[in-house]
Amino acid sequence: MGNPHELKLTGPAKEAALRDMYAEIGARNMFPFWAKSSDVEHDEIRQLMNGPKPLPFRWSYKDDIESLLHRSAQLVTTGDTDRRSLILINPGLAPRRASVSTLYTAYRLNDPNEIMPPHRHTASAIRFGLTGAKNFTGVEGEDITFGPGDMVLTPRDTWHNHGNVGDEPAINLSVLDYPLVENLNALAFDHDYKEGGVAAKKQTARFPSDYSARVYGAGGLKLRFVDHFRGVGGSSPMYVYRYEAMRELLEKHRDFADNPHEGLLIEYVDPLTGGPVYRTMTFFMQMVRKGETTLPIRQSASLLVAPFEGRGHTLIDGQRFDLEPFDTVAIPGGHWVEYVNDGSDPLILFVASDEPALAAFGLLTRYGRTAAGDVVDLR
Ligand SMILES: [Fe+2]
Repeated sequence: MGNPHELKLTGPAKEAALRDMYAEIGARNMFPFWAKSSDVEHDEIRQLMNGPKPLPFRWSYKDDIESLLHRSAQLVTTGDTDRRSLILINPGLAPRRASVSTLYTAYRLNDPNEIMPPHRHTASAIRFGLTGAKNFTGVEGEDITFGPGDMVLTPRDTWHNHGNVGDEPAINLSVLDYPLVENLNALAFDHDYKEGGVAAKKQTARFPSDYSARVYGAGGLKLRFVDHFRGVGGSSPMYVYRYEAMRELLEKHRDFADNPHEGLLIEYVDPLTGGPVYRTMTFFMQMVRKGETTLPIRQSASLLVAPFEGRGHTLIDGQRFDLEPFDTVAIPGGHWVEYVNDGSDPLILFVASDEPALAAFGLLTRYGRTAAGDVVDLR
């Protein structure tokens, strides 16, 4: 018995048969995983083989973002919409709403005394103050007023409402795990806020406004007489992290013999567990001191880096991206990254990372290069 699949066709006749088969595979919603672009000329296959990949990319606050925030505030009032956010789209992933594969950053300006109605969603978020002393977020009954450098949590499924309670415009950025939750087909939104069974436009405070600081601010000390379950589990119950404490801690350690790959890196953690504030993403402040250049690091985690103080640049696989206040730079996983502080002040970066998601699936890798050029495992 010969091979029943032995083919008698050769040359152009075989190519025509292949082309027909690929057309049928596509028409029936399948993908030929063996296909090589050299088999036959077939654009669809080439496109599928070159699927969307996030690119290292910088959005300049001064050139790209700031004036559009002001124009959006002129043209779109909060009477027209519940939110007015500019989401950063990675050009390698467009039109997906994603700045890296798992996360996006969005910027917004709130006019004086502008408060949006409460809502909740299955994506978790943080909000980070850039300008204005009185950004506002109410979250699960805690009213939080925050300024530049403060970070506020709105964990998945917590009711929250945003705005500005000051007399000047306030600008902040938020980072969400929305693209990850979207890929897991777990996105849900709820705008139907009620208090005592009655629809409400505003969330009434049930906790004192300094609750997070009062209960969790001491660090290393756990109050056994309060309920740490605040509407949802699995996220930090401390809903605001102040910049003042972070800045002081960085300053205290500025002469520390640090990690040469990351400079001074401080993680925001859940005070009850010491782990990341969310299961999906984590946040850091990173200080690169004046004159310092970090050694190259390559990790599978993707980062969204927002310079907060100082100036410098980063090299991503040798490609230079400037770091100026309030920019966002997307650093997808898998690239060699160095930070250079060539400015006259400390360079302070607010960093979001999908590290916890990768770690949960056993996919987190971190490698560094030594000054001699050797690759070392940093786990
Ligand atoms: Fe929200």
